[in-house]
Amino acid sequence: MKKAIIITFAVIAIVFLTSMFLNQSSAQVSQPSPKDGTVSKPISSVVMKIAERSCLKCHTEGGNGMAMMHLNLSNWDKFSPEKRADKAKDMCKMVSKGKMPPKSFREKNPGAAPTQEEVKVICDWATSIQVEKK
Ligand code: HEC
Repeated sequence: MKKAIIITFAVIAIVFLTSMFLNQSSAQVSQPSPKDGTVSKPISSVVMKIAERSCLKCHTEGGNGMAMMHLNLSNWDKFSPEKRADKAKDMCKMVSKGKMPPKSFREKNPGAAPTQEEVKVICDWATSIQVEKK
């Protein structure tokens, strides 16, 4: 009889812990913290994937100071639509010209630079989020 009670408690504890764990992980998905370098939704996920490889090392919190002054992707959430449009256009421009990621970075990380295809993805995205200027 005693055993049955212990087992019941164990089961309740496991269910409880599991649900806590699940809750926690889903909360993390819906609110990425800027600390771990995650940038949330407004950047299209395809673009994000490219940026993760090619840009985020410098252009997020804890990255390169100069890079952050121009473009801090950790703060993307806080940008106005106008600012996003502007920055996205800039990103397209820099990758199209082959200015970003910087040459030294590309040399140290072969394969980190966006491919032609990926440059197009960034630019198409930039075009898609342009807002009408008043
Ligand atoms: C190795 C670090 C590094 C990486 C990786 C990097 N950047 Fe930069 N980025 C910089 C620095 C440093 C500056 C400031 C450059 C300057 O003022 O000359 C900058 C500036 C910029 C600017 C502002 C340019 C301007 O003059 O307005 C944009 C836009 C930009 N980067 C986009 C990107 C994109 C998009 C990627 C990824 C494809 C990327 N960067 C990857 C270091 C980096």
